[in-house]
Amino acid sequence: MTSHIMPTYARQSVTFSRGEGAWLWDNEGRRYLDAVAGIAVCSLGHAHPAVHEAVCRQSKTLLHTSNLYGVELQTQLADRLIALSGMDNVFFANSGAEANEAAIKIARKYGHQRGIDNPVVITMEKSFHGRTMGTLSATGNSKIKQGFAPLLPGFSHVPYNDIPALEAAIAADSNIVAIMAEPVQGEGGVNIPAADYLNRIRELCDRHNLLMILDEIQTGVGRTGQFLAYQHNAILPDVCTMAKALGNGVPIGACLARGQAAEVLTAGNHGSTFGGNPLACSAALAVLETLTGSGLIGQAAEKGEKIHTALKQALAGNPHIVSIRNKGLMIGIELDRACGELVGIALAHGLLINVTAENTIRLLPPLIIDDAQIATLTETLAALIQDFSR
Ligand SMILES: Cc1ncc(COP(=O)(O)O)c(C=O)c1O
Repeated sequence: MTSHIMPTYARQSVTFSRGEGAWLWDNEGRRYLDAVAGIAVCSLGHAHPAVHEAVCRQSKTLLHTSNLYGVELQTQLADRLIALSGMDNVFFANSGAEANEAAIKIARKYGHQRGIDNPVVITMEKSFHGRTMGTLSATGNSKIKQGFAPLLPGFSHVPYNDIPALEAAIAADSNIVAIMAEPVQGEGGVNIPAADYLNRIRELCDRHNLLMILDEIQTGVGRTGQFLAYQHNAILPDVCTMAKALGNGVPIGACLARGQAAEVLTAGNHGSTFGGNPLACSAALAVLETLTGSGLIGQAAEKGEKIHTALKQALAGNPHIVSIRNKGLMIGIELDRACGELVGIALAHGLLINVTAENTIRLLPPLIIDDAQIATLTETLAALIQDFSR
């Protein structure tokens, strides 16, 4: 059959029709354990009653007005996010890339306010910030940029987790206005930096009057065992972006800012027709209430350790495992070879996994995954990896 969808994804040959918690069912009634969660989106699992109820309730009342008017739920959501993050204010968008676009615009205007006509944002090699032209230009992966030149100027890339490289880049260019990084690189291969990496970036930004921008689109909303990953480091960035799990499947993005950065954008500087509409905010409020009222964020750290330990034990002695690493429920199993094939093999065994950076199995299970499901996940996956790497 001819598909009328642009072939921008290499899709697996399965279509899901229903979900509940950590389980999905395909349209032939087969059940799958979901350790991808819509790429770190459905952290509360599928068909969560609180999200379901919020979306139904709101759709009966008011779906959308416009940012030309006050939006009560947006105000409530902003208050909640500020209380949880320690930041000062929020711009609402519809996706991660859009949240990052707002962050990049803040950095550029902050530069102009300081008399820098050609502001440069430092981002990291192997980073991923989105697919819009701005965020693609920020992204440190030349493969996904191919064919889309001319890219936007105003970005320079340094190796991740490399403070001397950052210092050198700052010293070499007086146009630097910001440093932008993921607390853990997701698409880049679940790369976990040194424990004090974010603290060192904070110090550099303070010393050189740069904005510290953290892209928490994948790490945020509890996935790493804190509401935001920077809370492991007891620091505050100047700008922080979120999306993915914030709506548990209802599209919403947010760019949070603090201090000087919070005062950069003024009326007419930025906008979004849908950003922060009542439907999205209603879902996000339900997500935050459920997450913070349940202990799920703390459990993300414990569950991540459980999965890590189980996989380590089951795969001990396998010489093809380069490393098993995790920050909460962001888990990477790096092999010494490309392992994209494993996604289809696992699917055939009723398990959804992801492979990123070609050789790293990435697990992003929902935060509600239980002990029995953790056992199924780790036992099934370890057996498949043993077979595959033999
Ligand atoms: C760290 C990070 N930033 C930005 C994005 C882009 O988000 P979206 O696909 O919602 O535009 C992603 C998506 O994977 C991401 O992981």
